[in-house]
Parts: sequence; C-alpha cells; structure tokens
Amino acid sequence: QCGIAVESRINCGCDRSLSRADCEARGCCYVPLPQSGLGGPPWCFYPVRYPGYKMGPLLPTEKGQRATLARSAPSYLPRDIPTLQLDLMPETLGRLHLTLKDPASPRYEVPFVTSQSRGHKDIQNPLYDVDFQPDPFGFIVRRKSNGRVLLNTTIGPLLFADQYVQLSTSMASSVISGLGEHYTPITLDLNWTSVSLWNRDMAPHVRPSEHFTFCFYFVLLLSKMAYYVGLLFKTKCFDNLPIAEVFLQPAPALTWVTVGGILDFYIFLGPSPQSVVQQYHEVIGYPMMPPYWSLGFHLCRWGYTSTNITRTVVQLMRQAKIPLDVQWNDLDYADQRRVFTFDLQRFGDLPRMVEEFHQLGMKYVLILDPGISSASPPGSYKPFDDGLKRGVFIKNSTGQILIGKVWPGPTAFPDFTNPTTQDWWTDCIRVFHSKVPVDGLWIDMNEPSNFVQGSVDGCPDSDLEKPPYTPGVIGGQLNAGTLCVSAQQYLSNHYNLHNLYGLTEAIATHRALLKVKSTRPFVLSRSSFPGLGRFSAHWTGDVRSDWEQLRFSIPGVLLFGLYGVPLVGADVCGFGGDTTEELCVRWTQLGAFYPFMRNHNDKPNAPQEPFVFSQQAQDAMRTAITLRYSLLPFLYTLFHHTHSSGSTVARPLFLEFPTDPDCQTIDRQFLWGSSLLISPVLEEGALEVTAYLPPGTWYSLHNVIPPLILSYYSKGQYILFPAPLDTINVHVREGSIIPQQVPALTTTASRRNPFTLIVALSVGNWAKGELFWDDGESLDTFEHGNYSYVLFFAEEVQNRENFVKLNGSLDGLVLGEVRVFGVRAPPTSVWANGQKVHDFSYSQDTKVCNKRFILIFKMC
Ligand code: NOJ
Repeated sequence: QCGIAVESRINCGCDRSLSRADCEARGCCYVPLPQSGLGGPPWCFYPVRYPGYKMGPLLPTEKGQRATLARSAPSYLPRDIPTLQLDLMPETLGRLHLTLKDPASPRYEVPFVTSQSRGHKDIQNPLYDVDFQPDPFGFIVRRKSNGRVLLNTTIGPLLFADQYVQLSTSMASSVISGLGEHYTPITLDLNWTSVSLWNRDMAPHVRPSEHFTFCFYFVLLLSKMAYYVGLLFKTKCFDNLPIAEVFLQPAPALTWVTVGGILDFYIFLGPSPQSVVQQYHEVIGYPMMPPYWSLGFHLCRWGYTSTNITRTVVQLMRQAKIPLDVQWNDLDYADQRRVFTFDLQRFGDLPRMVEEFHQLGMKYVLILDPGISSASPPGSYKPFDDGLKRGVFIKNSTGQILIGKVWPGPTAFPDFTNPTTQDWWTDCIRVFHSKVPVDGLWIDMNEPSNFVQGSVDGCPDSDLEKPPYTPGVIGGQLNAGTLCVSAQQYLSNHYNLHNLYGLTEAIATHRALLKVKSTRPFVLSRSSFPGLGRFSAHWTGDVRSDWEQLRFSIPGVLLFGLYGVPLVGADVCGFGGDTTEELCVRWTQLGAFYPFMRNHNDKPNAPQEPFVFSQQAQDAMRTAITLRYSLLPFLYTLFHHTHSSGSTVARPLFLEFPTDPDCQTIDRQFLWGSSLLISPVLEEGALEVTAYLPPGTWYSLHNVIPPLILSYYSKGQYILFPAPLDTINVHVREGSIIPQQVPALTTTASRRNPFTLIVALSVGNWAKGELFWDDGESLDTFEHGNYSYVLFFAEEVQNRENFVKLNGSLDGLVLGEVRVFGVRAPPTSVWANGQKVHDFSYSQDTKVCNKRFILIFKMC
C-alpha cells in the first residue's frame, strides 16, 4: 500500500505539516526521507486506494452524463460534503467539461465570463475517452487515437469539504506552462514546488503568485507526433474561486487545493498547441481589438509632477525625433491623490495639455485607482458622496462601509459586482472626461491593494478570515494586503470574489469608456483573471531595473498571450531602482517587441526617458522604436487574428514549432505571429547573441554590419549573431510577407504613410502574408465588415495582392516599396501593375531585390 515511487507520492499534508502520529491518524503512510520533509517529497503520503467517494451509476442528462458520489466514511476534514454531483459534458470533439459540486448547496456562477460551452451528449467520435474508477472515485482521460493517458485522478483521493477541496492528477508530460503570473521560466519547475493563485499587490520576485489568478495550465505533451493537451481548471476560478494552490511534483503530477467551492474544469485536446489555445479562448472569450494608437510607444513615470513637466517630456521626445503616441500621468495629477480630481496648482491646465497632445496627433492616459478617498469633508468630494448615496461600496461583515488605506489615506472600495456601481463609475468617468478628455484609463492597485490588513478596524475572527487551511499567500493570511475576506459584495462575500476584483473593475471601466467615447476603449489593468483580455491590457507590475527582470519579462509576456491577454508588456527599462544606459537600451529593444510598449519609472529613480541618455543610446532606442512603428501594420493584423480567432501575438517558439524538441523551453526568444523571430540581448556587456533558428531559411530584418550576411539556413541550430548596442536581432521566416509602413513620430502620421512589403521567399520561391486594415478606432469593424483585408502572395514569377475585402480604409494609401529576400539570380525585369518598373535594385551579396513603385489602393 505504501510502496509508491518517491516522485509519485501525493502529500497527505497539503494543508499542514504532520507528525507521524497525525499522519497515521489520517490513515496515511509515514516514511521519513534523508532530505528535509519541507519542499521535497512528502514523508506523509496517501496509500494506494485511500478511501474516498464511491461513484453511483452514470445516467444521461441533457448535456452529457451525471453520477452521484457518496462518502461511506468521513474524511479528516471539518465539514465534509458527503454527497457530490459529477457532471461530464462533452462539448466539442476536442473539449471536455467536467464539474464536481455539492448538489445540496448550489453555488453562484459568475455571469460575465462568457463560455460558449454547451454540453452535447451526442458528440460523435470525440478525441477523448473517459474511464472511471468507481471506488474510490477517480477518472482517467485518454487520447483516443493513441491511448495516451492525459489525466489520471486515481493517483490520490478527492477531498471535498466546505472550506477545502483537493484533487490530484498525473500529467502527460513534464513540460508544463501556465498557472498564472509568476516570476519563472516559461516551463514550470516540477521539483516539489507550488504556485498560489491569489491576487496580491506584490512586485515580481522569485516566489510565485502576484497580481493575478489564471487557472489555466497548459500541459505540453511531446510524443513523436507532438500531441498537446491543455487544461483549464475552473475550480472556483470562474464560479467563485477564492484561492487555489497548486502543488507540482516530478511524477509528473499536480495537486489542486482550494479553500472551497466547486471543481469545474475543461480539458482541451488540441492536438496542436495553437489549437489548445484556441479551444481555451472559445471558453473564456476572444480578446478585444485594441485601438491602433495603443500599439505605439507609451511614456510614463511616477513623478511628472506638473503639466509643464509633462509637456516638456513630450517636447524633448519630439526634439529627439523618437516616436511617441501616448503620454501618461501617474497619481501626481490628482488633488491629494484622490481619483477624478486634478491638482489645480500643478495640473490646473490639464485639460489644455491634453488638447495640445491631441493636436500633435498623440493620446493621453492617466491612472485611476479603485480606492475612493473617504476622508474628505462631506460635500467636497462627489465621487465618495455620490457613491455613498448610491450604495456602491463594499461593506464589512456587519454592514458598514469597509474602510481601508491606500494612496489618499482612508478609502472605500467600489463593489464592481453591483450593477449600480457600473452606473456610478460611468458617471464619474463621464464627468471627469468632460473636463479632461483622456483617451484611456490605467487601473492600478486593483487586487485590490490595501495598506492595512483587511480594514482600518481589522477583520472579524471568523472561519472565512481564518479558514482551516490557508494556502501559501504572502503575509500568511488571506486578508494580508487586501480587504477582509468576510466583507460583503453584491454577488457574494469577498472570500469568493477577491480574485475577480480587477476583472470586474476592468469590465466596468471598459464599459464606461465605451459609453463616454464610443470608440474602442483602452484600459490597462494590473490585476487579472481569465477573460481579462476581452476588456483590458495588462502590464507585469513593478519590475526592477535589472538584467534578471529584463530576462524574465519574456516568459511573463508570453504566458499572458496564452491566457488570452495579448496586449501585454513589462515596464520598459524597469520600474524600481535606477536603470543604466545599457540596460535601458536593451530593454527598449526588447520592449519594441512587447505587444504593449510603455517606459515607466518609479518616483525616486533616475530618469529613463530615451532623451536623457547619450546620443549613441538615443540613436539605438530610436532605431528600435522606429522598427516597431514600421511593423505596426503587421502587429495590428496579428491582433485582428487573436481578436477574431484566438491565436496569439507574441508567441513562444513551441507554439509554432511543436515537433521541434529544442523549442519546448525556449523563452529568451519569441515570435511575432509565425513569421518574425526576436532574439534580444539579455546580458550586460554582451555584443553578440546566441539564438536558436528553427529549421529553414531566416532573413535578418535589417543589416547587421559587419559581416553583411542577411540570410541564414538553419538545420534547427543555435547561431551566434552580432548584436552591437544599436541592434536587436529580428529574423523573418522564409515564406512570409510582412506588411510595413513608413514610420513617423505618431501612428496618426504613420498611418498616412506608404506601405512597404518584405517578401521572404521560401526555397520553393513562394511567400504569403496579409494585412488587416481599418480606421484603427471604430467599434466592431470586423463584426460589421467595416475593414479591408488583403492577402499577399509571391510566386515563382510574380507578387500579387488579393484584395479579399476592401472598404474605404485603404483609400489613397500607397504601396511604396517591396523588398524581396532570397532572389537567387538577378531579375531581368520587374513589372508592377502590368508595367515595366525601372527603378529597382538587386544586391548580389544579399540576394535582395528592392523595387520602388507606387500602387495606390483603391476601392474596387
Ligand atoms: C503601483 C503601480 O504598479 C505603479 O506602476 C504605479 O506607478 C504606482 N502604483 C503609483 O501609482
């Protein structure tokens, strides 16, 4: 019974450490090991077939099948739930949905996380098979085509009590990605580690669990045929997940523990990793289409203490001829740090400043914290007075408004699950916007963060505040750095809704901007939850200005792409601490390839705007940002695809090259879509970068001199590339056509410039690409058919465009230049639009043929 391989032992003391006597009292095996019992294999573990629930017969339902599970004897947990309902709902050929809940006490289900999921009991020939072990209950999911076990929950018991739920499963591979926001490589360490999923105001550091919960684990199963499987543990994540902790072990296996709720999860069968991501998106909803300007460069810092200082920053950027689309202000603008006000001394002409930026073709965003100051004299601060009247604030367990402390001092917290709060929030934003016409809003501190524990009056001594088991959260208590979890919200208590706070605020803010502006909203949120990408962008919080954080920003950004939040970036040059010139240059180069690019800095630190550095550094930054601007049509087209079909923008290599074992763990390089490979310098002093090129031919996007080598044929190998300070290595994959546009200082201007095409011919002399184009800000252009869509093909003899769909958005725009890489012999003639073109050039060294011609897009 206890003869279980060490790596497969499931800890019988996930909730607390156990002495031999405690362990044996639970009926578990106690086998001390030479190494420490902490953080390594457990000394106390479940024997084989540890008693649990017994499963009754499976009966058909409208959506699939249902069975009742019953315990014959109680477990060791307080308030066991003796009877459970299992629902098995095959939803599509590749998606299976399973829930386990207490039928006697139905739980609230979050209405705003869409799930297009519908169970269909008559799915014919799905990719999966499910087998059950009736006693003790467990299930095994297999991939039908090869019999491979994807999940096996019989390896440990199912425990289900009022405030403790636990389920273990084997995993099909040791290469695992996902489980929320954490400061780690893209693949998780399975050597007896754990991840807590509890939103918390915390700068990224080595211990996982930051601003965010994402209960999606992406299991990569690499077999010869490269099958992948994804798993979305909804547990209480969607329904009312208070917190989960996930224990990982080398078997490979994981144990999922939450402090109550239901177990609700999806299994996505892929088989390709891209399709796993798409299947996941089908459940959580597709990301919003961002406004075009939000893909430009953003500049912010805490410490632009007046409009004049903010204006000067913009002027200096323009003098330095460095593109800048969006200027930001942090909390400095607000009168006594109270949101929806502005300081009349230092920011008295804020409305005029914003208008000036608009005149320059720029946009303006400012910060909005959720904490509403509660200490202003009555009648002097409308957002609080009104909120009070309309009953929008979270209450403590005895029904008074819960007061915490954030930047303005004592604050009340809006309850965004209350429909009245949406109206009040919209009104606050409308009134503020009528004075200060902001283009977007930055919602910070929305875990929610609280500088006192729970509230200024503490928290009651209750089971909610001190559950029998408290997962590994920083501060040791659920209410540390946030609200009392017994606080009351419209939909439920904060215990159940805590992780949803940021998402609910993002939804309210998105909807408010939609009403007030009637253009595509731009919201940036620190706290996140599955579904956030439909409403908001995300940044990775308070990263330090150091090389390690630069490196870990890549997996951070890539994971959010998998999670359905494609508009994501880290603070360029780092937020905390002083940057150095070299670090800031390298960070700007990498940041030019974050889907969301913002340089942001903390108050006490040395300035880090591009113009404060040497001419050489400024040149390098300008080159990187300009390169980004030239690629924006391509980036925008990628966003269109993620919005319309759930693909990814910034993409880990394993997603694109699933059969290449070298790509499994690479997270120092990444792709934009399937065609651009980005290999940044991540080490101090490095002037070269060793980068992996998947098999095929790759072309340098810009000349690296010396030596002037533009194309590389790779067998799937690491290659050493020169990377002087002014260079980030970017390679175009053979067979692709990248639409570009001549850059400018803003996207307002660049969107009027000629397009260019990079054509990277494959060995077989073909290439293809595409362009999605619309006005960049109207709502639902794709949904209403109000866009242009062009497919580009290069074939043996010609390049051609196929205008799949044209509206007026391309009118008058010019195709100015086409650069064809990989033309092996000098062309004898070049034709465009049926006419011979004379001003083309060909380089024997680089095999690049440049044609300059003008093709004016016209409505068909
Ligand atoms: C914390 C945020 O993470 C940071 O970006 C911001 O500058 C400060 N709050 C001040 O608002």
